Order: sequence, then structure tokens, then C-alpha cells
Amino acid sequence: MFYPDEVIEEVRSRNDIVDVISGYVKLQKKGNNYFGLCPFHNEKSPSFSVSQDRQMYHCFGCGAGGNVFSFLMEYEKFTFPESVKYLAERAGVELPEMEESAEARKKAGLRQTLLEVNKKVALYYFKILRSEQGELGRRYFDKRALLWDTVKAFGLGYSGQYKDDLYQYLKSEGYNDEVLKKTGLFNYSDRGEVYNKFFNRVMFPIFDVRGQVIGFGGRVMGEGEPKYLNSPETEVFDKGRNLFGLNFARNSRKSHLIICEGYMDVIALHQAGFNQAVASLGTALTTGHASLLKRYTTDVYLCYDSDGAGVKAALRAIPLLKAAGLHVKVINMRPYKDPDEFIKNLGEEEFQKRIDEAVTSFQYEVGILESRYDLNEPESQTEFYKELAKRLSEFNEPLERDTYIKAICKKYSIDYNYFRTMVNDLGEKLYVTRMQEEEKLQEEIRTSGTGLRKKDTGIRIAQRILLTWLIGSPESFEKIRSYITPVDFSDDLYRDVCEKLYAQLERGVVQPASIISLYETEEEHKEVAALFSEELSSEMKKKDKERAITEAIIQVKNHSVEERSRSADSIVQLQELAKEKKMLTQLMETLN
Ligand code: UTP
Ligand code: MN
Repeated sequence: MFYPDEVIEEVRSRNDIVDVISGYVKLQKKGNNYFGLCPFHNEKSPSFSVSQDRQMYHCFGCGAGGNVFSFLMEYEKFTFPESVKYLAERAGVELPEMEESAEARKKAGLRQTLLEVNKKVALYYFKILRSEQGELGRRYFDKRALLWDTVKAFGLGYSGQYKDDLYQYLKSEGYNDEVLKKTGLFNYSDRGEVYNKFFNRVMFPIFDVRGQVIGFGGRVMGEGEPKYLNSPETEVFDKGRNLFGLNFARNSRKSHLIICEGYMDVIALHQAGFNQAVASLGTALTTGHASLLKRYTTDVYLCYDSDGAGVKAALRAIPLLKAAGLHVKVINMRPYKDPDEFIKNLGEEEFQKRIDEAVTSFQYEVGILESRYDLNEPESQTEFYKELAKRLSEFNEPLERDTYIKAICKKYSIDYNYFRTMVNDLGEKLYVTRMQEEEKLQEEIRTSGTGLRKKDTGIRIAQRILLTWLIGSPESFEKIRSYITPVDFSDDLYRDVCEKLYAQLERGVVQPASIISLYETEEEHKEVAALFSEELSSEMKKKDKERAITEAIIQVKNHSVEERSRSADSIVQLQELAKEKKMLTQLMETLN
């Protein structure tokens, strides 16, 4: 569907995985493998290993793994084709022209052009900032205590005071109106006049995770409306899927990310050493942002303004973030309004303390809730307890729930047994509704035929063990092959991998990394890589191994024979199954 397999294999084999990964992770050779700190989760001792023989990497801590393409997909968030292109260029392999529809090509071309224009515009604004015209902008950044290094790192600029200088500049660079209209940087009047949208503003280029300029935010100098003006969404600018500062924050190596409200907050935090800060782009946080964050971390700290609007934004953001599977804490900046102000007044160390003291989103919500009730008034108090109980009942994890119940009872002097019963009753009701919903969902999935994520059943584990061994101990191939054929694998992916592996083993060249490239999604890469990486960690005695292989063969074959017996409808099939069954019995006897 895409580049031919041979080309992909050529690109893969010309990019040594140790070389490529060394560009990102400091690796040290130990025995046959290289080790380093895993770039995909936070750790202090290295559990990330790279095997030069297999041309694969695997992290024993977080389960990340794959070949050189998977690494770039995971690290750079490239798609599979993007990884191939990148590595082809790196190794000087010429790729054949891709088969693309004319429309797709045009769209890709436009995106490329817009990115190119945006980059030029950012440089243009930066140049103005440094020029005589930029005095106002420079004074503003100075007043906000930004160091010149910070201004440079974020590529900040100034948009000048003329009505169409940017337009004239881009025209002179050869861009036509069709393109310039799509940049979102100009207003076109009915009479055909063109004006810069941004003037007399300090400019904040917005980068995507890969560091490409996708849009701009501009703050007016002095008073003026609106205070912040942002580029509209364009072919390359999707506000719901990008976060300001994430291109830097993703490499911060901190255990969490901080979400704040605006450009200046992010920049001030980064300047103070908190390079894990990001902000949404003049819009509220969306589920798209939440899942973007989830790609980089499991823990987020909200650092919204401490005014009413900030509280409202935090309360809206919390459920979205939690639904994406993130742990959420909230930083208290009082008596200051935002992190910028806070740091200016109290400094970095105090801010770090506030991070350490941040409360869980639940504690935060309880605090806000409390302020809405009059606890001296019995009726209001009861309402408050009920509301608390309702929220507590939403915790599925019994231990976590109980911890919070205890804390709440202590804090508000509520009788523990009484309150726990109240919460658990509500919880049961909620549980029943959830189960019903879940069942309904399952039914829908069954009838619509879309596959769910497969559960790791015993049989899947046994199938995986066999494949793992084929890679790690090719000498077991003959034995396994005499009992097991690809059809014995119930899992589609495993069956497929088995076929490809058998083909390689027959030729006597086992290259697990090349099998990985035959798949396109990161999920598949990870799953296939996990199959091939198990052996890197296990050290089994030969005798135990022999037995374990036999047991896995029996389990897989047995399951397969049973499954196929159920659907067999010809004498020939039944005879074949009987034969397989007999072999299986003989094999079982060897175990005793
Ligand atoms: P704030 O007004 O709180 O920003 O808006 P700030 O950083 O405190 O502003 P100054 O420069 O210090 O006075 C927070 C964010 O909300 C968006 C911007 O993304 C801003 O960074 N915003 C604000 C807009 O999009 N438009 C506006 O008119 C105001
Ligand atoms: Mn603010």
C-alpha cells in the first residue's frame, strides 16, 4: 500500500539502531547489548536496552520496544511513512515516488508551503524586534523581565506598525494570494486591499511538537482589544491538538507536565527552569489536548490563574484530563494571580514548593465545593455531605476510595461508618449502571463487528511464548515446526508473525527487526516487538526451557485442535484433526 517491503528493509538495514538511538539517549555497552535511561518514562537506573544483533530496543520498565522505525514513531511522534522518509534521507537512500492522489499531493504541498511561510514570518517578526522599529517590543519584554536568551529560544518577535509590510515582504518572496490567504495572517477587504492582521503586537510563534511554526499569538502593546490575538485555524494550525511550549516540555525529563493559562506563563516558567510547562492556545482545554498530553506523561499539574475564571477553567479541565487517564493535581498560587507574578515575587524555590504541595484534583474540588455551602447551617451541611458522598462513590478503586473517605471524615468530623455506608450504597448504584452501560457497549461492539483490544488470556500468553522462543532459540524451530503451523495461532497478529518468522527461519536468516517494519501502527510495532524482546530478559536453564516449550506447544495445539474440531465439517478435516490429536497425546506423554 506504501513503499515496497524491500525498500523499507533497505532503509532499515542502512540505519544502525545503536547509531540512531545514540542521537537521543546516552547508551553504554554491557555484554551484547547497550543500555541507557529510557526516554519514554522517567527512571533513575537504566532499563532501556538496545540490541545491535537484533536491531531492536526494549524497555523492561515500561514495555516500550521495536525497531529503528518504531523508535522514531514513539520518540518523534512520526507516522510510519514519516519515519521511513526521515531515515531514508539520513542514510541517503532514494525513495521511489509515492503513489498519491493528485488531491493528497496538493494538500501536502500546501501544508509544506504554509509551514515554510510561517517560518519566514517568525524570522521577520524577530528581525523587526531587533530593529529600530522594535524598540516598543523590546521594552515590553524587558518590563516582563524576559532575558534575551529566552526571547531567542521562543523566537519571540514584534509585528511593527505598518499596514502591509509583511504582505509586501511575502509577495516579494514569490508567494501568491491564494497561499497568503490561507496563512490566516491577512485581512482582505472587499475592495481588494490587504492588511496585516497583526500590528503593534509582540509576537509569540506557536510551534508544534516537532518545532515547526504553525501559527502565532500576538499581545497588543498598551491597552487595546483584544489583548491577545491568535491566528485562526489553518491547514497547519489545529488549536485543539497543539499546546504552546510542548515542543520544549516534551524533552524536559520531568515526571509531569504543568498546564498553565497563557503564553507569558509558559515562558516565565521555562525561564525559571520549569521547562515542563505548556498552555492551550487561547482556547479552553479539549479532549484532544488531554490525549496529546497523555502521549508524553501520566501526571499533569494545573496552574491556572487563581481568579474566578481560572477556577472555572480548572474545574472544566479536570474531568477531561481524568477521562484521558491522567493523574491531575492543582497548584495553588495565592496570593498571586499567575505563575509569572508568583515567580517574580517569591522566586523559583517557592514555586517548586508549591508544586510539591499541589493537591489532588479531588481535594481541590472538595475545597471549591466547601466554599459554596454554609457548613454552620444544618441543611446546607447535609447537602454538602451528600455531594461529597456522590463524588467519592465515583472512585472505582476500593482502597483509594476508602483513603479519601477517611480523610474527609476526619476533616469534617463525620462518623466514618455512617459515611462509608452512604458512599458505598451510592457506589453500588453507580456500579450497576456502569455495568449495564458496559454490557450495552460490549453488545454494540459485538454486533458492529469492530474488534476490541484483546484480553491477555492464557492461550495468548502460550502463543507468545512460542514466538518468543523461535526468535531467541532458533534451534527449537525444528521441534516447534513439527507440531505447530501458523493456523494454530488464534490471534491474527501472532498468526501473521508466525508465518513471516517461519519463512525467515527456513532461509536461515532471522531478522526480527525486519518483521516489525511490515506493520504500520505504533501499537502493532510495540506488540510485535514485545514478542521479540522477551528473551532479552529471561535466563532459563536448558532443561526447564525444553519443558516449557513442550508445555506451550501442547497448550497452543490443544486449543487449536479444539477450535477447529468445532467447525470441522468434512471427513478429511476430521481425519487430519485425529492425527494431530494423536501426536499431541504422544507429546504429552513425554512430559511425565
Ligand atoms: P491573560 O489575559 O490571563 O494573559 O490570558 P496574561 O499572560 O496574564 O496576560 P498579560 O500579558 O500578562 O497581561 C491568558 C491567555 O488567554 C488567551 C491567551 O492565550 C493568553 O495567553 N487570551 C487572553 C486570548 O486568547 N485573548 C485575549 O484577549 C486574552
Ligand atoms: Mn494570566
